[in-house]
Amino acid sequence: MDHWAKSVMKVLAIESSCDETSAAVVCDDPKPESRILSNVIKSQIDLHTKYGGVVPEFAARSHLDAIDIVITEALNIAGVTMDDIDVIAATAGPGLIGGLIVGTVTAKAIALVKNNPFVAVNHLEGHLLTTRLCYDVEFPYLLLLASGGHFFFAEVLGVGRYNILGETLDDAAGEAFDKVGKMLGFGYPGGIAIEEAARSGNGNRFKYTVPLQKRHGCNTSFSGLKTATKNHIGSLEMLTAQDKADIAASFQDIVVRFIVKQLGTAYEMTSLKPRNVVASGGVAANIALRAGISEFSQKMNLAFFAPPTSLCSDNAAMIGWCAIERIRVGYGYSDLSAKTFPCGLP
Ligand code: KG4
Ligand code: ZN
Repeated sequence: MDHWAKSVMKVLAIESSCDETSAAVVCDDPKPESRILSNVIKSQIDLHTKYGGVVPEFAARSHLDAIDIVITEALNIAGVTMDDIDVIAATAGPGLIGGLIVGTVTAKAIALVKNNPFVAVNHLEGHLLTTRLCYDVEFPYLLLLASGGHFFFAEVLGVGRYNILGETLDDAAGEAFDKVGKMLGFGYPGGIAIEEAARSGNGNRFKYTVPLQKRHGCNTSFSGLKTATKNHIGSLEMLTAQDKADIAASFQDIVVRFIVKQLGTAYEMTSLKPRNVVASGGVAANIALRAGISEFSQKMNLAFFAPPTSLCSDNAAMIGWCAIERIRVGYGYSDLSAKTFPCGLP
């Protein structure tokens, strides 16, 4: 079937790599605002919060319970049936194996029964192309990808052409937010709770040292900031709500300053000196981080783009869009024997 013969290609996409079961119907409409026909996200936060992090076995079982429901809902909201769908896409990695199996096996089964092509999508590629789903952002761009499991800077030259400039040497930024959130008794995930607490906090009260000052390049490290936070908490006789807010504000402030500083170094390392800067992944929802990157971009006379906060965290719309981008440039479809994978970019 020639999908380009049709005016619009509709993709049913599934995301289940971590703690969100999501299904979406996305199309290749030329207008960004018309591309997402539905994007249903069932979060498992309530299930994991009492454990302070994602429990893989519970996550897998929850994906299995929810997958049919979110797919049906996504089709209903989009006002389409399976017969209107041209392509099935699913996250094949990186992620937790139980969830990846649920998503990919479901997608492959639908593709087989409906005789649709299947596209196995890399979750990180989904995050890094989301901005192009929402806005007309041209390649090349300087990318910050900051999520719960990954952190890197890259020069994005085109679909599938990613030049990694630097990455974290230990924790991802989201992981550090989550661990500090846990230390402050905020439950899981910590990022949004820290951002909320920081609003009423004094970011100058607790002192931190900018990590990796003697090293060149734009790699990052967040584990020292975690240890410093633990020491700050340990220095207090008791932890009041104001102390928590001040620690949250001070921690967020150093994380933002550090990321923006390394972003500047990453820019110096780019070969094409892109005019666009893009932030993606769950941590890109952070307003202080967005403000920091926006200020940097203005100073450098660059345009800054980030998806709406609702599309920074895991969602199936970004997976569907990634499939469309890959089909457009000729990467073709995946075999039904395509495997799940634990790490890496395409
Ligand atoms: O991209 P994502 O939804 O999942 C992964 O692929 O990992 O990112 C989740 C991460 C979590 O660590 C969460 O704490 C963090 O993003 N996060 C935030 C904010 N919202 C989510 N971190 C800082 N500020 C936020 N507003
Ligand atoms: Zn993600």
